[in-house]
Amino acid sequence: MSFDAGWLDLRAPADAAARAPDLLARARTYLTATPGALALDLGAGTGATARAFATPGVRWRLLDADPDLLAHAAQRTPAAETVVMDLSRLDALPLAGVRLVTASALLDLASAQWLDTLARRLAQANLAVYAALTYDGSLEWTPAHPDDAAVAAGFNRHQRGEKGLGGPALGPDAAPCLAAALTRLGFRVSVAASPWRLHPGALLDALTDGIAAAAAETGVETRAWRQARAATVFASVGQVDLFATPPAASAQSKTTSVSSP
Ligand SMILES: C[S@@+](CC[C@H](N)C(=O)[O-])C[C@H]1O[C@@H](n2cnc3c(N)ncnc32)[C@H](O)[C@@H]1O
Repeated sequence: MSFDAGWLDLRAPADAAARAPDLLARARTYLTATPGALALDLGAGTGATARAFATPGVRWRLLDADPDLLAHAAQRTPAAETVVMDLSRLDALPLAGVRLVTASALLDLASAQWLDTLARRLAQANLAVYAALTYDGSLEWTPAHPDDAAVAAGFNRHQRGEKGLGGPALGPDAAPCLAAALTRLGFRVSVAASPWRLHPGALLDALTDGIAAAAAETGVETRAWRQARAATVFASVGQVDLFATPPAASAQSKTTSVSSP
């Protein structure tokens, strides 16, 4: 599947407002504890995650399958290294020198097997992970419409199609799946809500079109719903952010806090 820079730019302000501030701050603190630390952003697109961190002294390695998006990223964050790579090959992740792995609006495209493998790669390399803006399956609309539930069910079915990351995507179950895999491996995992809160405008229009089209592909009749949705005054799209530190880091921070006066 492809994502163009216009769509990523359209969603960028809503993404920036949605990120859970506490988890972003903790990820930033973790990253900057080592001077000149390197972060690897998976599915970087035009580099929105690096811009969200906005942290001087941090080096970024931006990875994506789409060279056009990475060209935009290189213009916006000239100091960043860019890597064109298909993430279906997790064994080839360029982890050398990395302290934190990040991703935004990516996990819901991934299968359970891919997420499990990612967790094991992170554990082997003793790396923390910050994964933001993963869709959680909840859509709320004001005013309500009788077809909201049917359209949401169709959209969520569509979310579970093959998206190129190791098999059928987990969609709304992706973040809990990664959280569980990391917890099993001894990571300290935190999760926080990061919903889009949308008012009338171009993003809400594009989102509504996209949801209607995706639900229609699963057999839901969406025309009346889409027409009625022209009157939407507010919509909320559920998302979650995750930050997890590896066992060695947790042990270190425990030791530090015990030995501090
Ligand atoms: C929804 S966009 C998010 C982009 C960016 N992280 C952001 O928050 O604006 C998903 C990104 O994942 C990338 N992507 C999807 N599947 C991929 C794959 N198999 N390998 C590498 N990148 C992939 C897309 O090219 C796109 O840039």
